[in-house]
Amino acid sequence: MPEKFSAETYKKDFESKDSCNARIKHILSYAIRAPSTHNSQPWKFILTGNRLSIINDESIRLPKSDALGRYRHISFGYLIHHIVLLAAYSGTQTMTRLGRAPVIAEIEFHTQHGVFDVTIAPLINALCSRRNRRGIFERDSAIPHNTLEAASARSPLFPAALAKPECAIASGRTVACIASCTAEGMRRAYRSNAFRREMASWITPTGSWRKTGIPGYSLNQPAILSWLLPNIIRFIDIGRFLSKLNVTSISSAPCVFGFAGDDTVSSWIGVGFQASHTALTLTAARFDVSVYVAAMEYDDTRREAGRAFGFSHPLQFLFATGALKGNVSWCTPRVPVSQKLTER
Ligand SMILES: Cc1cc2nc3c(=O)[nH]c(=O)nc-3n(C[C@H](O)[C@H](O)[C@H](O)COP(=O)(O)O)c2cc1C
Repeated sequence: MPEKFSAETYKKDFESKDSCNARIKHILSYAIRAPSTHNSQPWKFILTGNRLSIINDESIRLPKSDALGRYRHISFGYLIHHIVLLAAYSGTQTMTRLGRAPVIAEIEFHTQHGVFDVTIAPLINALCSRRNRRGIFERDSAIPHNTLEAASARSPLFPAALAKPECAIASGRTVACIASCTAEGMRRAYRSNAFRREMASWITPTGSWRKTGIPGYSLNQPAILSWLLPNIIRFIDIGRFLSKLNVTSISSAPCVFGFAGDDTVSSWIGVGFQASHTALTLTAARFDVSVYVAAMEYDDTRREAGRAFGFSHPLQFLFATGALKGNVSWCTPRVPVSQKLTER
């Protein structure tokens, strides 16, 4: 990934590639900017001609914080959206099919006209600049109605193979109600020693060379605390304290987006695909997106939050949005494609 990347850099580099294989690899080098639960990047790739198989890397496990695999599959949905979007920007049509475990999906690439679609450039710039920030939202950072409408509309690239999710926007008092449901879930999760041990192993201290995990700086931690935090979490239940921070942050957001669907793989991937489209549309309009607590693993709190959104299906995923205070220059690291890809 180039130091300074953007839709323009992507286009220039894409045009310099003279084979289908090199172009697909170029798409992947940007697509891995997709966010994933705990920055676990649970994917591997096999490239055979114009066919890309996206594989579930079963050696990357989150048994306590993602027992069902919901957040892993939502992460795959984000990844597939990034691939399909980058291909569409480059004038390349894709056909996405779901696969059989451990294959998550297969994507075929067909160059149609090869002309870049400039209408997609703002989303590609958003893909390059987006990062998951946590913090307090500016007061009066209301999001214009037309932006909310565009963000909640279904992605025009949504693959036929995926189950279509429900999407809803909560604002005002409903945001506080949803925040308190997530806080209750967080308090309960942190009571478990096994959950805390797992969580601690996914926090990457600032300055570490590790390319996976949630970096301390992205959690707004001073460098020293980011080295201590994993041990604090491992041995002490600070769930009450963290859930208070979480409620304060989510409650300060002008809006929370929720996504709902059945508890199936196709639905989770569909949720991730749509959530990615929604998040990039908001980022392109210069709003921040904050996945603070996606984990709503307890049936009662999940049901209550789902009711607050007015969903007819179970709530699967949510994020807060608005304008976060301050600016940041960091970019969450990724494992390079070369370490994830096999060519046949
Ligand atoms: C499905 C999914 C679930 C996530 N769950 C959480 C969460 O519960 N808490 C949190 O702080 N971040 C969560 N995140 C944000 C990731 O930690 C973040 O996207 C990842 O570290 C990569 O960083 P980036 O988004 O800045 O590129 C989640 C992201 C995804 C895609």
